[in-house]
Amino acid sequence: MAEIGFSELSANVGSEVDGVDLGEAMSDSTLGRLVAELADRCVLLFRGQDITPAQLIDFSRRLGPLEEHVLSNFCLPGHPEIFVVSNIIENGKHVGAFGGSKQYHSDLAYHDKPSMGSVFHCLECPEEGGETSIVSMSAAYDALPQERREWLCKQRAVFDYVWYYEQAHHDRPKLTEEQKRRVPPVGHPAVRTHPVNGRPSLFLSEVWVRQFEGTSDEESQEILAEILEFATKPEFTYVHAWTPGDVLIWDNRNSIHKACPFDEQNTRRRMHRTTIKGTAPYFESTA
Ligand SMILES: [Fe+2]
Repeated sequence: MAEIGFSELSANVGSEVDGVDLGEAMSDSTLGRLVAELADRCVLLFRGQDITPAQLIDFSRRLGPLEEHVLSNFCLPGHPEIFVVSNIIENGKHVGAFGGSKQYHSDLAYHDKPSMGSVFHCLECPEEGGETSIVSMSAAYDALPQERREWLCKQRAVFDYVWYYEQAHHDRPKLTEEQKRRVPPVGHPAVRTHPVNGRPSLFLSEVWVRQFEGTSDEESQEILAEILEFATKPEFTYVHAWTPGDVLIWDNRNSIHKACPFDEQNTRRRMHRTTIKGTAPYFESTA
């Protein structure tokens, strides 16, 4: 295997990885370097990856056990570990999740054990638009005023999937009672410690966060909007313009991401995503 190398994609977010073919077996030492780099940079990019769904799953499993998504109707047939994100309609049906994710979030943050990370393989994408924008929530946290950081360190945020889905996704099928039962509201520390490098990060998003515990929905939404307006400034952000064959991994423990708009009527975008299981967020004060 060629020598592994990293190059920065932006000041605070993202490293491009050279010298790795994700379709080949990977040594533990290479894997360890990727895990450390991902924790520090939030995002890893591998270009030119011509890999099968099975190879994507095999590589993803090296990072941890995989989730099967609550929206099982959008999983790849025969591969429940792969969640399809696409605007494509085949035989009158959407082949993947569509119309969502245009607001900043980290995947499965509404679970008691949110996803550790997500691996995205680009199969088709428009020539313009459809980028993915990713924010380093550790860089944003570091740059907040001290008073705000101290307040946030004492907060727990309530993530409520059903509350959000019912007001935002009128274009998607209604959730079944069984699906609702699987995603009750959950509270997480608003600042979490990264288990690999120990850095604190904001753990908030534009979706699902209903309130800070003990604060009204209305007041919570005002505070949340103010914090996220600060966090999503360009200096904490990397915007990835996709090319087919790109594999992008993002760390859901210290970043949020969203898809940018594109011409959904006249162009095709198709991505395969695996979602790595995570552990319960915690915060360890370093003060
Ligand atoms: Fe996502």
